[in-house]
This record gives sequence, C-alpha cells and structure tokens, in this order.
Amino acid sequence: MAKYRIAWLPGDGIGKDVLDATKIVLERLKLDAEYIPGDIGWEFWCKEGDPLPERTIQLVKNTDCAMFGAITSKPSTVADTELLPELRGKGYVYRSPIVRIRQEFDLYICKRPCRAYQGNPLNYKENIDIVVFRENTEDLYAGVEFYPVPEEFFRIKGMERVPKDAAISLKVNTPKGCERIIRAAFEFARTNNRKKVTCVHKANVVRATDGLFLKIFNEIAKEYPGLEADNANVDSLCQWLLKRPFNYDVLVAPNLYGDIISDLCAQMVGGLGFGASANIGDDYALFEPTHGSAPKYAGMYKVNPIATIIAARMMLEWLGEEGLAQSLEKAVESVIREGKVRTYDMGGNATTLEMAQAIADKIGG
Ligand code: NAI
Ligand code: MG
Repeated sequence: MAKYRIAWLPGDGIGKDVLDATKIVLERLKLDAEYIPGDIGWEFWCKEGDPLPERTIQLVKNTDCAMFGAITSKPSTVADTELLPELRGKGYVYRSPIVRIRQEFDLYICKRPCRAYQGNPLNYKENIDIVVFRENTEDLYAGVEFYPVPEEFFRIKGMERVPKDAAISLKVNTPKGCERIIRAAFEFARTNNRKKVTCVHKANVVRATDGLFLKIFNEIAKEYPGLEADNANVDSLCQWLLKRPFNYDVLVAPNLYGDIISDLCAQMVGGLGFGASANIGDDYALFEPTHGSAPKYAGMYKVNPIATIIAARMMLEWLGEEGLAQSLEKAVESVIREGKVRTYDMGGNATTLEMAQAIADKIGG
C-alpha cells in the first residue's frame, strides 16, 4: 500500500489541465502516493444539484490531504437555469464547494507564498518574497447573510438606522479564529527565519471585528520578541505594497482582506500562474492554485501550471517530505531562471504539459 492517500480533485475547466501537469512532476519525484480522483464542481451541480457530492466528502475523510484544481461558479440566477430540468425548482442552492471544504474540515490557515523567482519576466520587482496568512473559515465568509432582513433584527439597538430594504452580510470573527491564524503566521516566521509579521486590518473603522483581530495580534506578538510586529490598514497597505514591497515579509489578515491582498501580492510576482494556496487544518490540508477555471482556456493545455506545482511543493512540506519539496523547488527555480520553456503568460508558447515536463526533467531520475 502507498504511504499516502491523496484526494485528486481537478474540478472544472483548466483545473484538469493543471492537475495533469502536476501529476507528471509528482510521479517524477516518486512520491509514494495513491491519487484518488474525486468529483467536484459545476458539472456536478448541473447533473446532481450538488457541486460537492457526499461521496467526495467521504473521499476527503478517507485521505491524508487533497490536491484541488479549480471550479467554475456562477451567481444563483444563472445556477438554477443550468440545473438538469428535472432538478429545477426543488430547492437546490449552489454554495461554493471549496468554501464548504474549508469550513467543514476546519482548514483555518490559508497560506499563500508570493516569491519573485529569478528570471521571471512577469516580476514587478526582483526579490519580492512575501507570505500571506489568510484566516480561512470566518469573517465575511461566515455565510450569515440576510436579504430580506427579518423583522426581529430591527428591534436590536442600533438597527433603527438601517433601512428596511437593506441586505446584511455579517462579518463574524471569533477570538479562537483570530488567535489560531495569527499564531500560525508567527510560528511560520519563527521557524523560517523571517524578520517581520504585519497585521492587516481596518480597526479604526471596523472596530468590533478588526479591533479584536488587532488586539489579539498585539498580545501574541509579545510572545515572539525576536520578530518585528507591525500593523497596517488594508487600504494603505495596498499602496505601500506597490511602493515598498521589500518592507513586507509575513502578512496576516482576516479572510476577506487576506483574499484581496494575496491577489495583489501574486500579481507582483507573475500573476495567477504563480499564485498558490495551502488550506491547512489540524489534521487535513488541501492544496490549490488560487486562480479559477478560466473557461476560455479549458482543455487547451495552454495555462501555466507553476501555481499548482508550487501548491504541490507545499503539500510535500506538509506531509514532511522536505527533501522532495526542496528538489521540486530547485527544479522550478531553474526552469524559470533558464527561461527556455515558458507558457503564454510568460511570453512563450510552451504548453502546460511541456512546462511540467521541463520541471520534471530538472528533477532527473
Ligand atoms: P480565472 O482565475 O479563472 O481566470 C482569469 C484569467 O486569468 C484567465 O482568463 C487567464 O487569462 C488568467 N489565468 C488564470 N489562471 C492562469 C494560469 N494558470 N496561467 C496563466 N493564466 C491564467 O478567473 P475568472 O475568469 O474570473 O473566473 C473563471 C471561473 O473560475 C468563474 O466561474 C469563477 O467563479 C471561478 N473561480 C474559481 C476559483 C477557485 O476554484 N478557487 C477562484 C477564482 C475564480
Ligand atoms: Mg480569490
């Protein structure tokens, strides 16, 4: 029996292209794993009324971790019309399967490394090396939303200022949720010789929730006297990131701000073809590129697989396969540095699989 059981979830569109590419690299590394395919995404919503069928939940429960490609999601107005006719009007509600996995399996850390690989023509500046820690289960993603808002809400003090026809999405942040992501960021910084952790917030305006996040950050920072602790409002951070990217090292943020700043950071180091994401809980983790299913490129094997290959490297680290993780990282570095094999986004014409093959060839074996 293989040492690891890995749920293999390509999803929709280019999710399949980039996972096919990643398989080439993992096989060359001879990772002792069984890759077990699972159904997820828009296709299953249309056919079954559920983009995350129960059998896939069971698969996740019975594996060590998961590699995920991307899914297509569409607004509810469109979702209903794409269901098989016999499923329509039966109360099926589309909910993002990836948000559901993060929440149901309590994958509370979202780690997104943004590093400017030497020789990448898409780098905004050389030597940028930022890691974003995004809280992954609560905040505005808690899914507590009202439209229309129930009558009883308007009896709460403070609500008299809110018009009756408003829509409300609650930003829910808990001490436990704040503490565990902030601690993860500091622990990562300590064990990886990082210098500084910056807390991202808007505590001067969003006083209750972001105030809590910042307060807990300041408390935890005291436990790490060897690390510089800093904080910034999310809006001003965005301009400072562009102006002085080298002032930033590890960033930690509540869910929504983390989502936004990690796209900004990814763009500084090459864009969506380079943005990788690890969703980590206490005993399960799911690894993915941050990009979506890019329907216009689906099945064309044209997009850049590097984001997903970096995600696979994080999976190897998480599994404790440090040696394999380092070989993979070196192979990625050298293919980018040499610049002979480049996908379209990098100005080349290599296919997704040719890029993966070039990386695999650097691994040797
Ligand atoms: P997208 O990320 O799928 O693609 C936007 C554009 O970015 C593409 O057209 C392409 O030009 C470029 N791009 C994306 N991945 C690339 C790669 N690996 N290499 C080179 N270029 C790449 O975002 P879009 O078009 O807004 O959304 C498409 C679908 O994906 C939607 O249904 C959306 O809801 C979904 N989505 C899913 C995500 C996920 O599965 N985690 C995340 C974001 C969007
Ligand atoms: Mg995003």
